[in-house]
Amino acid sequence: MKFQSIRGFKDILPGEIEAVQRLERAARSVFESFGFSEIRIPMLEVTELFARGIGAATDIVEKEMYTFEDRDGKKITLRPEGTAPVVRAYIEHQLSQKAPVAKLYYLGPMFRHERPQAGRFRQFYQVGVEALGTDRPAMDVEVLAMLMAVLQRVGVTEVRLELNSLGDSACRPHYRKTLKAYFKTHLAELCEDCRRRYETNPMRILDCKKEGCRAVAAKAPSPLDHLCADCLAHFQQVKDGLNRLKIPFVVNERLVRGLDYYTRTAFEVTTTKLGAQNAVAAGGRYDGLVEELGGPPTPAIGFAMGVERIATLMERIATPTPDVFFALLGEEALRQLLPAIVRLRGLGVRIEMDYSGGGLKKQMGLSDKLGARYTLIVGENELKSGKAILRNMSDKSQAELPLSELDQSLPELFKKP
Ligand code: HAM
Repeated sequence: MKFQSIRGFKDILPGEIEAVQRLERAARSVFESFGFSEIRIPMLEVTELFARGIGAATDIVEKEMYTFEDRDGKKITLRPEGTAPVVRAYIEHQLSQKAPVAKLYYLGPMFRHERPQAGRFRQFYQVGVEALGTDRPAMDVEVLAMLMAVLQRVGVTEVRLELNSLGDSACRPHYRKTLKAYFKTHLAELCEDCRRRYETNPMRILDCKKEGCRAVAAKAPSPLDHLCADCLAHFQQVKDGLNRLKIPFVVNERLVRGLDYYTRTAFEVTTTKLGAQNAVAAGGRYDGLVEELGGPPTPAIGFAMGVERIATLMERIATPTPDVFFALLGEEALRQLLPAIVRLRGLGVRIEMDYSGGGLKKQMGLSDKLGARYTLIVGENELKSGKAILRNMSDKSQAELPLSELDQSLPELFKKP
């Protein structure tokens, strides 16, 4: 029997993982400089959290969740996103008491049973942030600045920030009515999904990708023309703030997110380099979600970055190679050198060796293949003289190195910046 990974679930191998690691490091460093702290949320939550949080009529909740009963008969779901779990944790641990604004970030896998294709997986990784406790437009600007800073840090600069405002509980119901009245006269031109959305979530019709729906949506009333004075002022201040920071953006009035919790600011960062799955990060404000999930009224904003998609856009980073390959000839050499190897590794020297007991030629071949910078050769003669041979693998020069000085000379030679 030959096993294969499940469709939509993939291994991230050495050679691919380095970009992911760099992205995660850059994100941590940028987020922490903005005063955000990491939160680790569980992979599983009760299903109701997502149904309520993301919205029962969304694609995610209707068709994409990995939901099952555990052995106690409880209905649980593998998290399809991180916002609802973070809000659950915020309420459960009363994080509002600890600081006026809870600034949290998270990294990890999410699960959605979507149709797999290039850039779309059923298990994928997100790096996300959530700032809970303020509705000030300055926070929207900070969060966006932070997102763009991470992308810049990893060299992903050919992207477009698209921005919209979806209104709030004061103006959205009125806009929804206007929108429904418009779509009512075009129902026959809409796809089957959108005819259903007309009843459940008419704003989603605005960003349907199907030709017919796009033509109808293009002439639909814009959410921006229906914002109340407060939402309009908020949106203006977000745009002003971005301009002051010289962060380029385009307003996209058709941008509607696939999760129901958004209010006011909604955004997506897209690229033209990935084909259909062009969103590398997305997010927005969700001023009503904490209350919806049983907490005190708490405005909040956040985003999540698609790790695989961003890693694809990054330059490939080489897998780390050994600093030095220890070519040990014979059991005695291995026995005597092993303590030094362990000590040196503890000092940060990357050491590789041969585990099959091969001869010098084979070991030199392996050292070459692994890309070691140096090979340290120790056989019977070297043990006797107390001096190893250190071979520079690029210029093939060799020098003697007293075995008693390995602890000093090797860490010095391979000092990392
Ligand atoms: P989302 O738009 O569903 O938002 O996902 C954010 C990003 O995750 C997407 O832009 C994309 O890069 C990546 N992504 C989503 N689905 C897949 C997939 N199947 N395969 C690969 N990558 C994928 C959220 O999840 C919100 N929780 C973001 C947020 C945080 N809003 C406020 N706070």
